[in-house]
Amino acid sequence: MSVALRDVHKSFGRTTALDGLELRVEEGEFFCLLGPSGAGKTTTLKTVAGLERPDSGTVEIDGRDVRDVEPYDRGVAMCFESYALYPHRSVYDNLVSPLRSPRHRLPAAEARERVGATAELLGISGLLDRSVGQLSNGQRQRVALGRVLVRPARAFLLDEPLSHLDAKLRQQMRAELKAIGSVRRTTTLYVTHDSVEALALGDRIGVIRDGRIVQTGTREDIWYRPHDTEVARAFGRPRINLLPGTVTEAGAFRSADGAVELPLPVRAPAGSEVLVGVRPRDVRPAGDGHRLSGSVYVTEVLGRSVEVTVRIGAQHLSLVAPRSEAAGLRPDEPVRPAVRPENLLVFEADRPGRPGRRIGKST
Ligand SMILES: Nc1ncnc2c1ncn2[C@@H]1O[C@H](COP(=O)(O)OP(=O)(O)OP(=O)(O)O)[C@@H](O)[C@H]1O
Ligand SMILES: [Mg+2]
Repeated sequence: MSVALRDVHKSFGRTTALDGLELRVEEGEFFCLLGPSGAGKTTTLKTVAGLERPDSGTVEIDGRDVRDVEPYDRGVAMCFESYALYPHRSVYDNLVSPLRSPRHRLPAAEARERVGATAELLGISGLLDRSVGQLSNGQRQRVALGRVLVRPARAFLLDEPLSHLDAKLRQQMRAELKAIGSVRRTTTLYVTHDSVEALALGDRIGVIRDGRIVQTGTREDIWYRPHDTEVARAFGRPRINLLPGTVTEAGAFRSADGAVELPLPVRAPAGSEVLVGVRPRDVRPAGDGHRLSGSVYVTEVLGRSVEVTVRIGAQHLSLVAPRSEAAGLRPDEPVRPAVRPENLLVFEADRPGRPGRRIGKST
């Protein structure tokens, strides 16, 4: 099933939740909607499900306006942030009840089989006889996800379904979720505010802000061609370095204090104020690239790699390198980090309430 929202507006009293939202999810696609709290993610899902009615604009399913189609008849299954479970009933009962509803009634044996298979996938087979009231938050969340996946549906709408799991389980479930056959085959609109999750799961990602889609694209689009500084900041940990400065007569970048000069991969008018974005993984403590000269400010071990913050004049430049390359670095020692200029991003300067837009390749 394909899903499209066209110029959808939705307000609650004085609060604008959706402000001209445009979104299209293709048949069979796993689409991640990423954005901060209050951006309108849940409202978007509810609008698709038919639980909220747009003030204006249209929702289309398979190209057909579904204004007059009841939620039950839309063929979508939605998983809520606040898991709507029956607390006094067993996990089994919670999982099987969607299959007993008048609309989705399945023969008992088939229902039992689907519940078993879904529980297996989610690693909760051992909990089927337990009462939901006795479960941890992470276990409940998996039951809630199970209640969605157990149902035959033509689209899944998942609202932060892994947010209550601990880091390890989340990573594991993330890997498994996409491998689940029904999820792989079924159009899925997946809401998260975790950029790592969006990059890992999304065939495409839509970045939502203030009720509007700022950018839609593949992970490569979002990573290498972010729409603006806020999208660039939202993806990647440690965060992208954004150095303020101006474009020189020769078309290079010079930081405000003159300490950093870099060649620019795009053409921008001399004198314009820009922010240059450098991903920490595109800088190394030594080696090939454009060399800068600074001193080690602080180092922090991140598993097999090390984050090194280098002070260059008034700037702090963060880089990530394998331990072997960064092991010897001590605070205050001089260092000449090498920047790979081909991946530099150039943005207009940020203005209040308006993140600077990326300046595209002009050659
Ligand atoms: N039923 C409602 N009544 C009043 N305001 C609402 C209602 N539902 C949502 N809002 C408001 O609409 C805006 C968007 O809310 P929404 O729940 O869609 O955000 P979200 O992106 O899902 O956020 P979160 O990440 O915190 O879940 C928020 O300002 C919210 O307070
Ligand atoms: Mg929400």
